[in-house]
Amino acid sequence: MAVDTATAAGAGASRRAIEHHYDVGREFYRLWLDARMVYSCALWTGDLDDDLEGAQLAKLAWHATAARADGVARALDIGCGWGAMLRYLVEERGVGHVTGLTLSADQASSGPISERAEVRLEDWRDHQPAHPYDAVVSIGAFEHFARDDLPRAERRQVYRAFFERCAGWLVEGGRLSLQTIAYEDFDRATSAASPFFTEEIFPESGLPQLSDIVEAAERWFRVVGFRNDPTHYEQTLLLWQQRLESGRARAVELAGPAVYRRYLRYLRLSRVMFQRRVCTLYRLVLERRPVPPLPSRGNP
Ligand SMILES: C[S@@+](CC[C@H](N)C(=O)[O-])C[C@H]1O[C@@H](n2cnc3c(N)ncnc32)[C@H](O)[C@@H]1O
Repeated sequence: MAVDTATAAGAGASRRAIEHHYDVGREFYRLWLDARMVYSCALWTGDLDDDLEGAQLAKLAWHATAARADGVARALDIGCGWGAMLRYLVEERGVGHVTGLTLSADQASSGPISERAEVRLEDWRDHQPAHPYDAVVSIGAFEHFARDDLPRAERRQVYRAFFERCAGWLVEGGRLSLQTIAYEDFDRATSAASPFFTEEIFPESGLPQLSDIVEAAERWFRVVGFRNDPTHYEQTLLLWQQRLESGRARAVELAGPAVYRRYLRYLRLSRVMFQRRVCTLYRLVLERRPVPPLPSRGNP
């Protein structure tokens, strides 16, 4: 399928595809995520121990600091999940007003977070804020923006559109803290992603490579921070798997045996992919360049 622009329908995960994964039921996810319901790789500042709660909080703190969100007037979370980061920014970092975007109806209706928070059931492609943001975060959503089977040039076009939008929403010098899974030791030319992931677990989604991200962002952003944390995702997936296994009876009651088995398989296989470094986990801190941006380098 040819995609002219990143706004074209079909470039990335649709609402239907997102709801296939995220609207299995909040109570099902509550069984195996941490108490804040953070659904992305945690961050350990010391040993990779079994304290998932602490490691998820450390991850929220890392991104808030990286985006320089302390006490700012307005912040945006692109792909806000069940709102853990929004809550954290308002309650712990004194942000005046936070906006979260999600494509999941279940997440968007997960209840009021704060008078200073707004959750919108909205694609980033359609977001048109009335005022600029001082800080932007996006954690574990980038993986949904471009389908796995898009040719490289079209994938990069989608990512470029994303970074252009983010830069347009940010004040000058403002930062975007971005976390995403990416392919590492994986050759797209000779290998194909498993249909189990691209069809049953994350339909209409796909992973970037580091070069995709950097090439797509560089016109608008300086890279001012970078972490590569595959072992942190191995540990997060192990802890999620153990929690799901210990809640087996309730999980089956809530979602049925087929969903339980599918999620267990997904968590196990994902961990193997991180262990083998097929995948890795990047955290990038991007700072908006002053306008006008660099000219396009003319890459496809
Ligand atoms: C893995 S969850 C991560 C949630 C949250 N950031 C966290 O760490 O708990 C991915 C999120 O990205 C959202 N998402 C995916 N594609 C999106 C899009 N095009 N526009 C807005 N949100 C999107 C999903 O709805 C979901 O909330």
